[in-house]
Amino acid sequence: MSGEVRAGSVKLTSDWMAVIRAREHVRPDAYLSDPCAAVFVTPASEAELDRVEAEGLPSQVVPIRGRLGDQTLLQSGVRQAVCLGSGTDTRAWRLPLGPAFTYYEVDLPGQLTGKREMLAAAGFPAGCDVRQAEADLRGDWTPALLDAGFSPAEPVHWIAEGLFYYLTRPEADTLLRAVTALSAPGSWLTFDGPDDGFLHDPAREGFLRGMRQRGAPFVGSFGDPVTWLAPYGWTGRAVLHRDLAAHPCPWLPAVPPHLLTPAQDVWFVQARRDQLTASPGAASGPA
Ligand SMILES: C[S@@+](CC[C@H](N)C(=O)[O-])C[C@H]1O[C@@H](n2cnc3c(N)ncnc32)[C@H](O)[C@@H]1O
Repeated sequence: MSGEVRAGSVKLTSDWMAVIRAREHVRPDAYLSDPCAAVFVTPASEAELDRVEAEGLPSQVVPIRGRLGDQTLLQSGVRQAVCLGSGTDTRAWRLPLGPAFTYYEVDLPGQLTGKREMLAAAGFPAGCDVRQAEADLRGDWTPALLDAGFSPAEPVHWIAEGLFYYLTRPEADTLLRAVTALSAPGSWLTFDGPDDGFLHDPAREGFLRGMRQRGAPFVGSFGDPVTWLAPYGWTGRAVLHRDLAAHPCPWLPAVPPHLLTPAQDVWFVQARRDQLTASPGAASGPA
């Protein structure tokens, strides 16, 4: 089976995320509120999520990264956000962002088709100006975002949830370089991604093989995301999911027990574009 990500297959992973968020939303101790997620849930996606969770999908990280992204977005003071690999993300519909806020969604061609219409039909009008761009984030995606109206002169919150799992390190480097070039001082970035150990854990071999066979291989990981970000001019902080139970994270609302086990080798990262550092150009930035 090829290690290449297949668009339709990786879209399925986004449908699983909706099921996870919908199930979290109805819990009495919900960490993330997403009333819109149920719009994307089907019996088939529920059954497939059950299967892939049994194989070892780290579902617990989804509400946690979602809450981190929500909190960062609402506290950042920015007036635009870009959700990279947005899939079934519903922030533009569920958060009180207001009509002066522009929320950009970028995903592979076809992945966002019908999303707006499904949410509207279910009685969820967008709470801000939503603009969607179709592009492969492994390629030259910035023209599509700029064509959609994105302003590089204004601070932005970049959200990349469930994305870096599918990007090799060179692809992640290229993406970060492009993101940085479009980030005015005061911009924010939140994301999650596997620790290096995740991809080499023999206990995960069955799960990782299943993802390869589905056409959605996990190929990206981080040893230390803060160190990765620094040369690009981002000041970051990061915490591993597996450390949260013993050491509650001061910049995350207290995570409830049902999301702490089983602990996962996955990073949560929040970063801010430094006010004074220069943007690394193609020549001077890290390779
Ligand atoms: C696991 S889903 C996460 C979706 C959403 N961010 C969430 O948390 O619910 C991964 C998403 O990344 C998108 N994606 C993966 N590789 C991509 C690429 N090369 N370019 C654009 N989008 C990509 C997929 O289409 C999918 O929507």
